[in-house]
Amino acid sequence: MDRRRLGLALPALLLSTPLARPALAQGASLGSSLGSSLGLLARERGITFGAAVQGRFLAADPAYAAAFATDAALLVPEWEAKWAALQPEEGRFDTAPLDAILAWARQRGRLVRGHALVWHEAMPPWLEPALAEGRARAEGLLAAHMDRVLSHARNQIRDWDVVNEPIANPAGSDVPQAGDAMLRDTPWLRALGPGYVEMALRMARQRDPTLRLVINEYGIEEDTPDAAEKRRRLLALLRGLLERNTPLDAVGIQGHLQLVRPFTPAPFAAFLAELRQMGLAVLVTELDIRETAQAPQDMAARDALVAERAYAFVSTALEAGVRTFLTWGLSDRESWLVKEPAVALKDGRAHRGLPYDESWQRKPMWTALARAFQGGNG
Ligand code: G3I
Repeated sequence: MDRRRLGLALPALLLSTPLARPALAQGASLGSSLGSSLGLLARERGITFGAAVQGRFLAADPAYAAAFATDAALLVPEWEAKWAALQPEEGRFDTAPLDAILAWARQRGRLVRGHALVWHEAMPPWLEPALAEGRARAEGLLAAHMDRVLSHARNQIRDWDVVNEPIANPAGSDVPQAGDAMLRDTPWLRALGPGYVEMALRMARQRDPTLRLVINEYGIEEDTPDAAEKRRRLLALLRGLLERNTPLDAVGIQGHLQLVRPFTPAPFAAFLAELRQMGLAVLVTELDIRETAQAPQDMAARDALVAERAYAFVSTALEAGVRTFLTWGLSDRESWLVKEPAVALKDGRAHRGLPYDESWQRKPMWTALARAFQGGNG
Protein backbone atom coordinates (compact mmCIF):
# COMPACT_ATOMS: atom_id res chain seq x y z
CA MET A 1 0.00 0.00 0.00
CA ASP A 2 1.34 3.41 -0.91
CA ARG A 3 3.21 4.81 2.08
CA ARG A 4 1.41 8.12 1.61
CA ARG A 5 -1.69 6.27 2.64
CA LEU A 6 -0.22 4.06 5.27
CA GLY A 7 -1.13 4.68 8.81
CA LEU A 8 1.80 5.63 10.97
CA ALA A 9 1.42 5.76 14.68
CA LEU A 10 0.32 9.21 15.60
CA PRO A 11 0.59 10.37 19.20
CA ALA A 12 -1.53 7.97 21.14
CA LEU A 13 -5.15 8.75 20.56
CA LEU A 14 -7.30 7.32 23.26
CA LEU A 15 -10.54 6.18 21.76
CA SER A 16 -13.57 6.23 23.92
CA THR A 17 -17.20 5.93 23.18
CA PRO A 18 -20.32 6.85 25.12
CA LEU A 19 -20.57 3.31 26.43
CA ALA A 20 -18.56 1.69 29.13
CA ARG A 21 -15.44 0.44 27.45
CA PRO A 22 -12.50 -1.59 28.72
CA ALA A 23 -9.34 0.27 29.53
CA LEU A 24 -7.62 0.86 26.23
CA ALA A 25 -4.14 -0.45 25.73
CA GLN A 26 -1.28 2.05 25.84
CA GLY A 27 -0.04 3.14 22.48
CA ALA A 28 -3.52 3.35 21.12
CA SER A 29 -3.09 5.12 17.84
CA LEU A 30 -5.12 5.75 14.78
CA GLY A 31 -4.58 7.67 11.63
CA SER A 32 -2.25 8.34 8.81
CA SER A 33 0.98 10.27 8.66
CA LEU A 34 -0.33 12.20 5.65
CA GLY A 35 -3.93 13.13 5.31
CA SER A 36 -6.34 12.02 7.94
CA SER A 37 -8.16 8.76 8.37
CA LEU A 38 -11.80 7.87 8.50
CA GLY A 39 -11.43 6.84 12.11
CA LEU A 40 -9.81 10.16 13.03
CA LEU A 41 -12.22 12.31 11.02
CA ALA A 42 -15.11 10.47 12.63
CA ARG A 43 -13.58 10.67 16.08
CA GLU A 44 -13.21 14.45 15.82
CA ARG A 45 -17.00 14.64 15.68
CA GLY A 46 -17.79 12.03 18.29
CA ILE A 47 -18.43 9.34 15.71
CA THR A 48 -16.95 5.84 15.78
CA PHE A 49 -15.97 4.44 12.40
CA GLY A 50 -14.89 0.86 11.90
CA ALA A 51 -15.06 -2.10 9.60
CA ALA A 52 -15.50 -5.84 9.39
CA VAL A 53 -12.17 -7.60 9.53
CA GLN A 54 -10.96 -11.03 8.39
CA GLY A 55 -8.34 -12.24 10.83
CA ARG A 56 -6.43 -14.28 8.28
CA PHE A 57 -5.63 -11.12 6.30
CA LEU A 58 -4.69 -9.09 9.38
CA ALA A 59 -1.93 -11.60 9.99
CA ALA A 60 -0.83 -12.26 6.43
CA ASP A 61 -1.28 -9.02 4.50
CA PRO A 62 0.66 -5.92 5.62
CA ALA A 63 -1.35 -3.58 3.37
CA TYR A 64 -4.60 -4.96 4.78
CA ALA A 65 -3.36 -4.54 8.35
CA ALA A 66 -2.06 -1.04 7.62
CA ALA A 67 -5.43 0.07 6.26
CA PHE A 68 -7.19 -1.16 9.39
CA ALA A 69 -4.52 0.49 11.55
CA THR A 70 -5.14 3.73 9.69
CA ASP A 71 -8.90 3.87 9.44
CA ALA A 72 -10.72 1.50 11.78
CA ALA A 73 -11.34 2.55 15.36
CA LEU A 74 -13.74 -0.36 15.75
CA LEU A 75 -13.57 -3.89 14.36
CA VAL A 76 -16.15 -6.60 13.88
CA PRO A 77 -15.00 -10.12 12.98
CA GLU A 78 -16.52 -10.99 9.62
CA TRP A 79 -16.37 -14.71 10.43
CA GLU A 80 -14.47 -15.51 13.62
CA ALA A 81 -17.25 -14.84 16.15
CA LYS A 82 -19.91 -16.90 14.37
CA TRP A 83 -21.08 -20.34 15.52
CA ALA A 84 -19.32 -22.22 12.71
CA ALA A 85 -16.02 -20.64 13.68
CA LEU A 86 -16.41 -20.74 17.46
CA GLN A 87 -18.04 -24.14 18.00
CA PRO A 88 -17.32 -26.30 14.94
CA GLU A 89 -18.31 -29.41 16.89
CA GLU A 90 -20.61 -29.61 19.87
CA GLY A 91 -18.65 -28.75 22.96
CA ARG A 92 -15.39 -28.06 21.08
CA PHE A 93 -14.72 -24.33 21.02
CA ASP A 94 -12.07 -22.73 18.83
CA THR A 95 -11.49 -19.17 19.96
CA ALA A 96 -8.01 -18.82 18.45
CA PRO A 97 -9.08 -16.93 15.29
CA LEU A 98 -11.21 -14.56 17.37
CA ASP A 99 -8.44 -14.16 19.95
CA ALA A 100 -6.02 -13.10 17.21
CA ILE A 101 -8.36 -10.26 16.24
CA LEU A 102 -8.90 -9.31 19.89
CA ALA A 103 -5.14 -9.23 20.48
CA TRP A 104 -4.52 -7.09 17.38
CA ALA A 105 -7.21 -4.68 18.52
CA ARG A 106 -6.01 -4.59 22.11
CA GLN A 107 -2.44 -3.82 21.07
CA ARG A 108 -3.72 -0.79 19.15
CA GLY A 109 -6.42 0.33 21.53
CA ARG A 110 -9.21 -0.56 19.11
CA LEU A 111 -12.71 -1.65 20.03
CA VAL A 112 -14.33 -4.88 18.88
CA ARG A 113 -18.01 -5.69 18.54
CA GLY A 114 -19.41 -9.24 18.38
CA HIS A 115 -21.33 -10.82 15.51
CA ALA A 116 -23.45 -12.97 16.01
CA LEU A 117 -24.82 -15.08 18.87
CA VAL A 118 -27.97 -16.28 17.07
CA TRP A 119 -28.20 -16.46 13.27
CA HIS A 120 -29.58 -18.94 10.76
CA GLU A 121 -26.39 -18.87 8.66
CA ALA A 122 -22.80 -19.81 9.50
CA MET A 123 -24.19 -22.66 11.56
CA PRO A 124 -21.84 -25.62 11.95
CA PRO A 125 -23.28 -28.78 10.33
CA TRP A 126 -24.06 -30.43 13.68
CA LEU A 127 -26.16 -27.57 15.01
CA GLU A 128 -29.36 -27.58 12.96
CA PRO A 129 -30.09 -31.29 13.57
CA ALA A 130 -29.32 -30.81 17.26
CA LEU A 131 -31.72 -27.87 17.52
CA ALA A 132 -34.42 -30.02 15.95
CA GLU A 133 -34.17 -32.55 18.79
CA GLY A 134 -36.42 -30.44 20.97
CA ARG A 135 -36.84 -27.21 22.87
CA ALA A 136 -34.91 -28.19 25.99
CA ARG A 137 -31.97 -29.37 23.87
CA ALA A 138 -31.99 -26.18 21.82
CA GLU A 139 -32.18 -23.96 24.89
CA GLY A 140 -29.32 -25.86 26.48
CA LEU A 141 -27.14 -25.46 23.40
CA LEU A 142 -27.77 -21.73 23.21
CA ALA A 143 -27.06 -21.34 26.93
CA ALA A 144 -23.83 -23.33 26.70
CA HIS A 145 -22.65 -21.31 23.68
CA MET A 146 -23.33 -18.04 25.44
CA ASP A 147 -21.76 -19.28 28.68
CA ARG A 148 -18.50 -19.99 26.89
CA VAL A 149 -18.38 -17.17 24.37
CA LEU A 150 -19.54 -14.30 26.56
CA SER A 151 -17.25 -15.26 29.42
CA HIS A 152 -14.33 -15.70 27.03
CA ALA A 153 -14.75 -12.31 25.37
CA ARG A 154 -15.87 -10.45 28.50
CA ASN A 155 -14.33 -6.97 28.80
CA GLN A 156 -13.04 -7.25 25.23
CA ILE A 157 -16.25 -7.33 23.23
CA ARG A 158 -18.67 -4.83 24.70
CA ASP A 159 -21.58 -5.14 22.30
CA TRP A 160 -22.96 -8.12 20.45
CA ASP A 161 -25.40 -8.76 17.64
CA VAL A 162 -27.36 -11.11 19.89
CA VAL A 163 -29.89 -11.96 17.17
CA ASN A 164 -29.03 -11.40 13.51
CA GLU A 165 -31.72 -11.05 10.80
CA PRO A 166 -34.80 -12.30 12.69
CA ILE A 167 -37.39 -10.60 10.46
CA ALA A 168 -39.12 -12.44 7.62
CA ASN A 169 -38.56 -10.90 4.21
CA PRO A 170 -41.70 -9.63 2.51
CA ALA A 171 -42.90 -11.52 -0.53
CA GLY A 172 -41.02 -9.47 -3.11
CA SER A 173 -37.67 -9.47 -1.38
CA ASP A 174 -34.62 -11.31 -2.54
CA VAL A 175 -35.29 -14.15 -0.10
CA PRO A 176 -39.07 -14.05 0.25
CA GLN A 177 -40.84 -15.66 3.16
CA ALA A 178 -44.24 -17.24 2.67
CA GLY A 179 -47.17 -15.33 4.06
CA ASP A 180 -46.99 -12.30 6.29
CA ALA A 181 -45.09 -13.82 9.18
CA MET A 182 -43.12 -11.30 11.18
CA LEU A 183 -40.27 -13.65 12.08
CA ARG A 184 -38.11 -15.42 9.54
CA ASP A 185 -38.59 -19.20 9.47
CA THR A 186 -35.25 -20.39 10.91
CA PRO A 187 -33.98 -23.42 12.89
CA TRP A 188 -34.04 -21.18 15.97
CA LEU A 189 -37.69 -20.24 15.48
CA ARG A 190 -38.65 -23.84 14.82
CA ALA A 191 -36.81 -25.10 17.89
CA LEU A 192 -37.66 -22.40 20.42
CA GLY A 193 -40.79 -20.70 19.05
CA PRO A 194 -41.32 -16.96 18.47
CA GLY A 195 -40.02 -16.22 21.96
CA TYR A 196 -36.46 -17.17 20.93
CA VAL A 197 -35.46 -13.55 20.34
CA GLU A 198 -36.50 -12.56 23.86
CA MET A 199 -34.89 -15.69 25.30
CA ALA A 200 -31.56 -14.94 23.61
CA LEU A 201 -31.55 -11.34 24.81
CA ARG A 202 -32.35 -12.36 28.39
CA MET A 203 -29.69 -15.08 28.33
CA ALA A 204 -27.07 -12.58 27.16
CA ARG A 205 -28.03 -10.00 29.76
CA GLN A 206 -27.97 -12.59 32.55
CA ARG A 207 -24.42 -13.52 31.56
CA ASP A 208 -23.04 -10.02 31.26
CA PRO A 209 -25.13 -7.10 32.58
CA THR A 210 -22.65 -4.60 31.10
CA LEU A 211 -23.04 -5.79 27.50
CA ARG A 212 -24.79 -3.66 24.87
CA LEU A 213 -27.34 -6.02 23.31
CA VAL A 214 -28.15 -5.50 19.64
CA ILE A 215 -30.65 -6.88 17.14
CA ASN A 216 -29.11 -6.59 13.68
CA GLU A 217 -31.13 -6.52 10.43
CA TYR A 218 -30.87 -5.77 6.72
CA GLY A 219 -33.28 -4.67 4.01
CA ILE A 220 -34.75 -1.87 6.14
CA GLU A 221 -32.94 1.09 4.61
CA GLU A 222 -34.37 1.89 1.22
CA ASP A 223 -37.49 3.52 -0.17
CA THR A 224 -39.31 0.42 -1.40
CA PRO A 225 -42.56 -1.30 -0.34
CA ASP A 226 -40.59 -4.34 0.85
CA ALA A 227 -38.21 -2.27 2.96
CA ALA A 228 -41.18 -0.35 4.41
CA GLU A 229 -42.90 -3.62 5.30
CA LYS A 230 -39.73 -5.04 6.83
CA ARG A 231 -39.31 -1.85 8.89
CA ARG A 232 -42.91 -2.26 10.05
CA ARG A 233 -42.28 -5.88 11.07
CA LEU A 234 -39.09 -4.98 12.91
CA LEU A 235 -40.77 -2.14 14.79
CA ALA A 236 -43.56 -4.52 15.83
CA LEU A 237 -41.01 -7.02 17.15
CA LEU A 238 -39.14 -4.30 19.03
CA ARG A 239 -42.31 -2.87 20.59
CA GLY A 240 -43.32 -6.31 21.84
CA LEU A 241 -39.88 -6.94 23.31
CA LEU A 242 -39.76 -3.58 25.06
CA GLU A 243 -43.33 -3.91 26.35
CA ARG A 244 -42.14 -7.10 28.07
CA ASN A 245 -39.12 -5.26 29.46
CA THR A 246 -36.77 -7.40 27.42
CA PRO A 247 -33.16 -6.26 27.77
CA LEU A 248 -32.28 -4.63 24.45
CA ASP A 249 -30.02 -1.62 23.90
CA ALA A 250 -29.64 -1.03 20.20
CA VAL A 251 -30.62 -1.89 16.66
CA GLY A 252 -27.96 -2.62 14.07
CA ILE A 253 -28.89 -1.44 10.61
CA GLN A 254 -26.68 -3.45 8.30
CA GLY A 255 -26.69 -1.03 5.39
CA HIS A 256 -26.05 -3.46 2.53
CA LEU A 257 -27.36 -0.87 0.08
CA GLN A 258 -28.29 -1.70 -3.50
CA LEU A 259 -28.19 0.97 -6.22
CA VAL A 260 -31.00 -0.86 -8.04
CA ARG A 261 -33.27 0.31 -5.19
CA PRO A 262 -34.13 3.96 -4.47
CA PHE A 263 -32.96 5.59 -1.26
CA THR A 264 -34.71 8.71 -0.03
CA PRO A 265 -33.84 10.26 3.34
CA ALA A 266 -37.38 10.87 4.62
CA PRO A 267 -38.69 7.34 5.24
CA PHE A 268 -35.34 6.19 6.59
CA ALA A 269 -35.06 9.23 8.88
CA ALA A 270 -38.60 8.61 10.15
CA PHE A 271 -37.69 5.01 10.93
CA LEU A 272 -34.57 6.09 12.81
CA ALA A 273 -36.66 8.59 14.78
CA GLU A 274 -39.06 5.82 15.80
CA LEU A 275 -36.17 3.70 17.03
CA ARG A 276 -34.77 6.59 19.03
CA GLN A 277 -38.20 7.32 20.51
CA MET A 278 -38.22 3.72 21.74
CA GLY A 279 -35.04 4.52 23.64
CA LEU A 280 -32.86 2.40 21.37
CA ALA A 281 -29.42 3.33 20.11
CA VAL A 282 -28.79 2.72 16.41
CA LEU A 283 -25.62 1.53 14.69
CA VAL A 284 -24.87 1.12 11.01
CA THR A 285 -23.12 -2.23 11.15
CA GLU A 286 -22.30 -3.54 7.64
CA LEU A 287 -22.32 -0.69 5.12
CA ASP A 288 -21.41 -1.49 1.56
CA ILE A 289 -22.98 -0.69 -1.78
CA ARG A 290 -24.01 -3.16 -4.45
CA GLU A 291 -23.95 -1.78 -7.98
CA THR A 292 -26.57 -2.63 -10.57
CA ALA A 293 -26.02 -5.13 -13.37
CA GLN A 294 -26.23 -2.10 -15.69
CA ALA A 295 -23.42 -0.26 -13.89
CA PRO A 296 -21.71 2.23 -16.25
CA GLN A 297 -18.57 1.10 -18.02
CA ASP A 298 -16.73 4.21 -16.90
CA MET A 299 -15.05 3.61 -13.54
CA ALA A 300 -15.34 7.22 -12.40
CA ALA A 301 -19.06 7.18 -13.10
CA ARG A 302 -19.48 3.95 -11.15
CA ASP A 303 -17.52 5.31 -8.19
CA ALA A 304 -19.53 8.53 -8.25
CA LEU A 305 -22.82 6.63 -7.97
CA VAL A 306 -21.48 4.57 -5.06
CA ALA A 307 -20.13 7.66 -3.31
CA GLU A 308 -23.38 9.57 -3.79
CA ARG A 309 -25.41 6.76 -2.16
CA ALA A 310 -22.92 6.38 0.69
CA TYR A 311 -23.04 10.11 1.40
CA ALA A 312 -26.85 10.29 1.29
CA PHE A 313 -27.26 7.30 3.59
CA VAL A 314 -24.60 8.19 6.15
CA SER A 315 -25.52 11.88 6.33
CA THR A 316 -29.19 10.95 6.86
CA ALA A 317 -28.19 8.61 9.68
CA LEU A 318 -25.91 11.24 11.22
CA GLU A 319 -28.70 13.80 11.20
CA ALA A 320 -30.87 11.26 13.02
CA GLY A 321 -28.23 10.84 15.73
CA VAL A 322 -26.42 7.69 14.63
CA ARG A 323 -22.82 7.82 15.82
CA THR A 324 -21.40 4.38 15.02
CA PHE A 325 -20.70 3.31 11.44
CA LEU A 326 -18.99 0.18 10.19
CA THR A 327 -18.39 -0.80 6.60
CA TRP A 328 -18.41 -4.48 5.72
CA GLY A 329 -14.72 -4.54 4.98
CA LEU A 330 -12.44 -1.74 3.76
CA SER A 331 -11.34 -2.91 0.33
CA ASP A 332 -13.31 -4.24 -2.64
CA ARG A 333 -10.80 -7.08 -2.93
CA GLU A 334 -12.02 -8.90 0.20
CA SER A 335 -15.66 -7.92 -0.13
CA TRP A 336 -18.38 -10.56 -0.03
CA LEU A 337 -19.90 -8.54 -2.88
CA VAL A 338 -17.01 -9.77 -5.00
CA LYS A 339 -16.59 -13.26 -3.55
CA GLU A 340 -20.22 -14.33 -3.18
CA PRO A 341 -21.51 -15.58 -6.57
CA ALA A 342 -25.11 -14.79 -5.64
CA VAL A 343 -24.40 -11.05 -5.46
CA ALA A 344 -21.30 -10.63 -7.65
CA LEU A 345 -21.59 -8.81 -10.97
CA LYS A 346 -22.14 -11.33 -13.74
CA ASP A 347 -20.11 -9.58 -16.45
CA GLY A 348 -16.74 -10.28 -14.92
CA ARG A 349 -16.50 -6.90 -13.25
CA ALA A 350 -16.19 -6.57 -9.48
CA HIS A 351 -18.42 -4.44 -7.28
CA ARG A 352 -16.77 -1.23 -6.04
CA GLY A 353 -18.85 -0.90 -2.88
CA LEU A 354 -16.22 -0.16 -0.20
CA PRO A 355 -13.92 2.80 0.62
CA TYR A 356 -10.75 1.31 -0.97
CA ASP A 357 -10.26 -0.40 -4.30
CA GLU A 358 -8.48 -3.70 -4.77
CA SER A 359 -5.09 -1.92 -4.78
CA TRP A 360 -5.77 0.00 -1.57
CA GLN A 361 -6.38 3.28 -3.36
CA ARG A 362 -8.92 5.50 -1.64
CA LYS A 363 -12.06 5.85 -3.74
CA PRO A 364 -14.73 8.54 -3.90
CA MET A 365 -16.67 6.47 -1.36
CA TRP A 366 -13.83 7.06 1.11
CA THR A 367 -14.10 10.79 0.47
CA ALA A 368 -17.90 10.68 0.72
CA LEU A 369 -17.70 9.07 4.15
CA ALA A 370 -15.07 11.61 5.23
CA ARG A 371 -17.28 14.48 4.03
CA ALA A 372 -20.31 13.08 5.80
CA PHE A 373 -18.35 12.70 9.05
CA GLN A 374 -17.20 16.30 8.68
CA GLY A 375 -20.78 17.44 8.44
CA GLY A 376 -20.81 17.81 4.70
CA ASN A 377 -17.82 20.14 4.60
CA GLY A 378 -14.33 19.33 3.51
O1 G3I B 1 -15.62 -22.16 5.77
C1 G3I B 1 -14.36 -21.56 5.92
C2 G3I B 1 -13.76 -21.93 7.25
O2 G3I B 1 -13.50 -23.33 7.29
C3 G3I B 1 -12.48 -21.16 7.45
O3 G3I B 1 -11.96 -21.43 8.74
C4 G3I B 1 -12.75 -19.68 7.32
C5 G3I B 1 -11.44 -18.91 7.44
O4 G3I B 1 -11.74 -17.55 7.40
O5 G3I B 1 -13.34 -19.39 6.06
C6 G3I B 1 -14.57 -20.05 5.86
O6 G3I B 1 -14.96 -19.68 4.56
C7 G3I B 1 -15.98 -18.79 4.36
C8 G3I B 1 -15.93 -17.50 5.18
O7 G3I B 1 -16.97 -16.58 4.73
C9 G3I B 1 -14.58 -16.79 5.04
O8 G3I B 1 -14.61 -15.60 5.71
C10 G3I B 1 -17.33 -19.43 4.57
O9 G3I B 1 -17.39 -20.65 3.87
C11 G3I B 1 -18.38 -18.45 4.03
O10 G3I B 1 -19.69 -18.97 4.19
C12 G3I B 1 -18.28 -17.14 4.82
O11 G3I B 1 -19.20 -16.23 4.23
C13 G3I B 1 -19.50 -15.08 5.05
C14 G3I B 1 -21.02 -15.06 5.27
O12 G3I B 1 -21.41 -13.88 6.01
C15 G3I B 1 -21.52 -16.28 6.04
O13 G3I B 1 -20.90 -16.29 7.31
C16 G3I B 1 -19.06 -13.82 4.32
O14 G3I B 1 -17.66 -13.78 4.22
C17 G3I B 1 -19.56 -12.59 5.09
O15 G3I B 1 -19.27 -11.40 4.37
C18 G3I B 1 -21.08 -12.68 5.30
O16 G3I B 1 -21.46 -11.58 6.09
C19 G3I B 1 -22.88 -11.46 6.34
C20 G3I B 1 -23.06 -11.02 7.79
O17 G3I B 1 -22.47 -11.96 8.64
C21 G3I B 1 -24.53 -10.80 8.10
N1 G3I B 1 -25.13 -9.84 7.16
C22 G3I B 1 -24.96 -10.20 5.76
C23 G3I B 1 -23.49 -10.39 5.42
C24 G3I B 1 -23.30 -10.71 3.96
O18 G3I B 1 -23.87 -11.96 3.67
